[in-house]
Amino acid sequence: MELYIDTANLEEIRQAHEMGVLDGVTTNPSLIAKEGVDYGRRLAEICEVVPGPVSAEVIATDFDGMLREGRDRATIAQNIVVKLPTTAEGIRACKALSDEGVRCNMTLCFQALQAWLAAKAGAFLISPFIGRIDDVGQDGMDLIHQIRQIYDNYGYPTKLLAASIRHPKHMLDCALAGADVATVPFSVIRQILKHPLTDIGLERFIRDYQGAFASRK
Ligand code: G3P
Repeated sequence: MELYIDTANLEEIRQAHEMGVLDGVTTNPSLIAKEGVDYGRRLAEICEVVPGPVSAEVIATDFDGMLREGRDRATIAQNIVVKLPTTAEGIRACKALSDEGVRCNMTLCFQALQAWLAAKAGAFLISPFIGRIDDVGQDGMDLIHQIRQIYDNYGYPTKLLAASIRHPKHMLDCALAGADVATVPFSVIRQILKHPLTDIGLERFIRDYQGAFASRK
């Protein structure tokens, strides 16, 4: 499973990239608003750090606007992926941009047939939001399983990118379900590496070693 970081914070992106395990980045208007920076400039900065796919969302919701913004965002860097909402206009824009060779990430996907249409429109990525489905009392993982099955049934090459991941259990379930990509906040990447037995074990190794050899100096 590929690992993307879901943030527009440059410092977090740099730190995750330095770990050597980062495959890409996703951003959205809310994440950019949190940083209070110019979207285009920040995307260019992110693309300088990370060579993998960097998702850049459009603000327009109409076909012409999405096409215009999508083409514009695609000129920022060669690794930009244009992020579009999975609406009727968004699907149409996805088809048009994909036909021009621009890779698209279809976002705000909440049911499997949206993912099916995104695949038919040539999307590079589909982004089902599992945490937000859990938030309304349903099981977000059901959607991941359904999309995986539909894509496998027909051999669609669109990558299943699990989004709105809130904790390591979501990530583990996505890996077991065969998601192609998980995009996660930096806090979740850190949580994955935090286990009390790792910390206790490491402390004991160092203590035992120092206890045996420190006095011989
Ligand atoms: O990638 C989409 C993601 O940013 C949404 O996450 O936590 O706002 O539901 P969340």
